[in-house]
Amino acid sequence: MIKLAIIIGSTRPGRKAEAVAQWVWEVAKKRSDAEFELVDIQQFNLPLLDEAMPPSMGQYSQPHTKAWAAKIASFDGYVFVTPEYNHGPSGALKNAIDYLYREWNNKAAGFVGYGSAGGTRAVEQLRLVMGELQVADVRAQVMLSLFTDFENFTTFKPAPMHEKSVNNMLDQVIAWGGALKGLRDK
Ligand SMILES: Cc1cc2nc3c(=O)[nH]c(=O)nc-3n(C[C@H](O)[C@H](O)[C@H](O)COP(=O)(O)O)c2cc1C
Repeated sequence: MIKLAIIIGSTRPGRKAEAVAQWVWEVAKKRSDAEFELVDIQQFNLPLLDEAMPPSMGQYSQPHTKAWAAKIASFDGYVFVTPEYNHGPSGALKNAIDYLYREWNNKAAGFVGYGSAGGTRAVEQLRLVMGELQVADVRAQVMLSLFTDFENFTTFKPAPMHEKSVNNMLDQVIAWGGALKGLRDK
C-alpha cells in the first residue's frame, strides 16, 4: 500500500494550515487504498536554506536536513496544504521544498489551497516548482475560501462539498503515486 504525506504548509503563529490539514487527514483516513501521515514542517525547525551544496547533489550536512530528507523520502506522494501569501505559497513551505531534491523525484502530488480565491494562485506557483522536482502534480485540487469555509475568517468550517473534492484529488494522487512506484523501484 502506498504512503502519502499531508504536509502542513504554514509555520505562522495562529496558522489556519493545521486545522485544514487535520481535516484533510480525517477525510483521508476513511479510505483503505493508501496510508496517510500528517507532516508538520514546523517540527523540523528548518532555517532558511543553510546547505552549501545544491540539494540535487544529495550531500546534506545539517542534522535538520537529514531528518527532513528521511521523512520526505519515506513517502510515495504528497498532499501540500498551502496558504496563499502574496499570490504564492508561504516562504516556509517553499524553503522546506527547496531543501531536498531526489527525495521528491518521481512521486505524485496534490494540493489543498485556501485563501480569498481558494489558494489557486499559490497552487499554480507550486505546480511550476513541482515540474523542476520531477513531481507529477494531479489536476484535481481542493480550493477553500476564506469567505465561505472559515467562520468570521477564522474558524475552519468547510462546506460539505469539499469532502468530495478531497477524495477526487486523493484518487488521482494514489493512482499516480502507485504508477510511479515501478519507476522508482528500478
Ligand atoms: C504575508 C501574507 C500575505 C497574504 N497574501 C494573500 C494573498 O495574496 N491572497 C490571499 O488570498 N490571502 C492572502 N493572505 C491571507 C491568508 O490567506 C490568510 O492569512 C491565511 O490564514 C494564511 O494561512 P495560515 O494561517 O495557515 O498561515 C496573506 C496573508 C499573509 C500573512
